[in-house]
Amino acid sequence: MQVEFVAPGAKPSSGAAGAFAAPAFDDLVLCAASADLDETSGGTLSRAAATAGFTGGKGRSLDLVAPAGLDFARVLLVGVGPQAEFDLAAFEAVAAEAYQALKTCGAETLTLGLQGFSAEQAAHAALGARLAAYRFDRYRTREKPEKKPTVQTVRIETDHAGTAKKAFKPLSALADGVIFARDLVSEPANILYPVEFARRVKALESLGLTVEILGEKDMAKLGMGSLLGVGQGSRRESQLAVIQWKGAKDSKAKPIAFIGKGVCFDSGGISLKPADGMEEMITDMGGAAAVSGLMHVLAARKAKVNAVGILGLVENMPDGNAQRPGDIVTSMSGQTIEVINTDAEGRLVLADAVWYCQDRFKPKFMIDLATLTGAIVVALGHGYAGLFSNNDALADNLLAAAKASGDALWRMPLPAAYEKQIESLAADMKNTGGRPGGSITAALFIQRFVNDVPWAHLDIAAIAWRKPSTNPMIPDGATGFGVRLLDQLVADSYEA
Ligand code: BES
Ligand code: MN
Ligand code: ZN
Repeated sequence: MQVEFVAPGAKPSSGAAGAFAAPAFDDLVLCAASADLDETSGGTLSRAAATAGFTGGKGRSLDLVAPAGLDFARVLLVGVGPQAEFDLAAFEAVAAEAYQALKTCGAETLTLGLQGFSAEQAAHAALGARLAAYRFDRYRTREKPEKKPTVQTVRIETDHAGTAKKAFKPLSALADGVIFARDLVSEPANILYPVEFARRVKALESLGLTVEILGEKDMAKLGMGSLLGVGQGSRRESQLAVIQWKGAKDSKAKPIAFIGKGVCFDSGGISLKPADGMEEMITDMGGAAAVSGLMHVLAARKAKVNAVGILGLVENMPDGNAQRPGDIVTSMSGQTIEVINTDAEGRLVLADAVWYCQDRFKPKFMIDLATLTGAIVVALGHGYAGLFSNNDALADNLLAAAKASGDALWRMPLPAAYEKQIESLAADMKNTGGRPGGSITAALFIQRFVNDVPWAHLDIAAIAWRKPSTNPMIPDGATGFGVRLLDQLVADSYEA
């Protein structure tokens, strides 16, 4: 699907008028485009609205098939409620809703009538359409025709086609980053294993990023016994990807840093997971995908910041050589860890990735993202990622970015009193703390590898993968959660 910005009334290049959609406000206040159509058609729209009892209320819509007196095959009015609440996010939502409602209607083009609105509003509508149109269909060789999207082009009619196109540039970069992350999360583990993940990230160098890939030998030299222990039962080699973007005026300025859990498949290892739902563990690299997507966006929109992305890429498998419950490993920090449960592997990967990050880059702050615990699903449900932080200023910036971006966060505590749940008899700590506060003890574990650096941990286990979707901009499956959040954070708080 492609989007284009066109002058009001321009004919689609495909010839056929296709489908049309526009917002309608409370008390059936039509916007300029649909008011025009209503007039040309001699009142078809207002008559239909009156008959159907449609008054522009939020969550309602009016869908006309082959409306009399108009060229369009379909006309959809999307109710958005009070005009005063129609913010930029609402433009994204209208476009996304319109796309979802009409994507299989048979038309090749969908025209959004947005004359009378600003270039920025038109650009955000385009973003909504791009995110809504995401599909992962690489492995589909056939599909029921009625399920196959027919809409190839979303045309946005605006009085400011030129400026809207310009305003869409950074948003298009954002959409590309979200889609890059969604694709990574959607890929199955037989295709996307650590080396392949690293390869795809290496390809981002074409955007101006620098990417280094460390293999198992390199990591062994660095003493990353914690990360390497996780990958030890896999036939696939573990990798550490180090992605750098230097966009600040001063290329030597301290970077901000993002670290992603990249468990390409989490079987649980010797502490094997039950079969039911195990296939969802192809998404256990959602943190690494979000960090990759973010770096993609920062480079594509040439963000004025120095940023580092670190990905701990492993596969957690049971095997004759796999790590055992009871094993004690030594992390790069020198701290030892008793592995009680090989299924609590994400924190073992992060322990070394986080340490490496602060040791090498001395970042301004570090944020790690990880599909870390089932307990966060229990605590917060599927609507929020859990936010843990040792720094209120960073946490507040993240919460503000969450509000602005729609990627929702809820702050969780890091009580020192719970530390005793991860004390070990034989080592400096153990990797599980039992069922009470399972997401909190996981975060406390990671915190032990953070020195005096502002740090935040986002547990995205509940939100990296969504089914069924309740947001038209986030189709079922991979959400791309985190990319938009962190891009917003960088843009609002850290770009000079
Ligand atoms: N990858 C899982 C967490 C997860 C659960 C992600 C559901 C996405 C959806 C993680 O590695 C894990 O297995 N965590 C264990 C930890 C436990 C053994 C302490 C869990 O949550 O059960
Ligand atoms: Mn696990
Ligand atoms: Zn995991």
